Amino acid sequence: MNRLFEEINNRELRKWDEGISSDIYEIRFGDVAFQYHLYGGGLDYCIVQLRSLKDVDSFVVIGDKNVESVGRKIVDRLQGKYHSSLLTFECTEKNKNLQMLESLIDKVIKLKATRKTCIIGLGGGISGNMSGMVAALMFRGIRFVHIPTTLLAISDSVLSLKQAINSNSGKNLIGLFHAPEMVIANIDFLQSLPKKEVVSGVCEVIKNALTILPETIETLEGLLDPESKYSEEDYRYFITMSIEAKTLVMRNDPYEKHEALILEYGHTIGHAIELSDAGNITHGEAIGLGMLCAADISRMLGYLSDKDVQLHRALLSKAGAAGAIPRHIDPETILSIMKYDNKRGYVENDGGTFHLVLLESIGKPLKNGEKPLTPVPDEIIRKAVGALHA
Ligand SMILES: NC(=O)c1ccc[n+]([C@@H]2O[C@H](COP(=O)([O-])OP(=O)(O)OC[C@H]3O[C@@H](n4cnc5c(N)ncnc54)[C@H](O)[C@@H]3O)[C@@H](O)[C@H]2O)c1
Repeated sequence: MNRLFEEINNRELRKWDEGISSDIYEIRFGDVAFQYHLYGGGLDYCIVQLRSLKDVDSFVVIGDKNVESVGRKIVDRLQGKYHSSLLTFECTEKNKNLQMLESLIDKVIKLKATRKTCIIGLGGGISGNMSGMVAALMFRGIRFVHIPTTLLAISDSVLSLKQAINSNSGKNLIGLFHAPEMVIANIDFLQSLPKKEVVSGVCEVIKNALTILPETIETLEGLLDPESKYSEEDYRYFITMSIEAKTLVMRNDPYEKHEALILEYGHTIGHAIELSDAGNITHGEAIGLGMLCAADISRMLGYLSDKDVQLHRALLSKAGAAGAIPRHIDPETILSIMKYDNKRGYVENDGGTFHLVLLESIGKPLKNGEKPLTPVPDEIIRKAVGALHA
């Protein structure tokens, strides 16, 4: 895997003088480039990276309430040299909305932010998306750094230019593109992550293996643990594998409109499951269920084999993820939410079908012209969702 990675990235191993070793990846998505620092240890390394940013006059940390104490420490350490403030909010899908966005922007304005203010998104994918939206909208775009604290954010959501919030009708329907200037990922943050959030992150890692890097499946399967007991080394494998997978499909498709649409595997049905069961099911677990449906649909259409579908099931089960859609979710609710999916319009739709990201075989997207989006009749989706109902 490393050989392939080095072909597409400039990887540098730098020894930090406290004995902390950090991997620094130069991430390139089209013309956009930023540094991704991966390390394990205290906050010193992170503070030095933040202080090295040129031409910044203040920092505003927008953080998840659950990691408020970390945010407080970062702000205290930056004070003195910079005017630094901490804003926190409760990170739930319900709060990932326009009202919360407006209230955070008002607070940032009242803090007398300037064009030299740097916004720091501290937390999981929700605070990352929310702070990315704030940074993009303030003065039509100010600087932005991610400090992700969940596995899903470290290995997935910060490796994207997409920033989005939910509307009343669906997930991530309001959004834009805004690149971080730097990502500082500290594996030590994962020690406090609840098991279900670890499982959530691992589901997206499994997606990367099934869709983009099938050669990693065997190693990944060996590492998966239903109890989510992972070593730092295991996490590093999940993360670097995901960096590699995402870079492979996004280096020529930074806005995820063509080949990088494969990253949406499991997401059309998964987002609908997530929204139908808001607050109970994690993002990754919902995507896992979406992948099981997508695999079954591809099998019904004559592409994936029974063995391929079983491989999906085995990997997700070994990761401790749910294998069935909760009974209280009505399949018709899932289908009605899917009507608002944010990939609509990429290809012509004459009604009666949904365009889904499917696999032709493991590691190979099913293409429809240039895009990996296949029209699937409602009845087939109904059948796949019904078969997965608990
Ligand atoms: N390209 C993108 O922008 C992109 C990609 C993938 C997912 N997402 C979005 O990301 C969100 C999911 O992200 P997530 O799974 O990180 O969810 P999240 O942000 O809700 O975090 C999950 C939970 O973990 C808690 N938490 C965070 N860090 C912690 C820590 N170190 N210790 C203990 N608890 C901690 C949070 O408070 C929250 O309860 C979804 O809204 C999804 O749409 C965006």
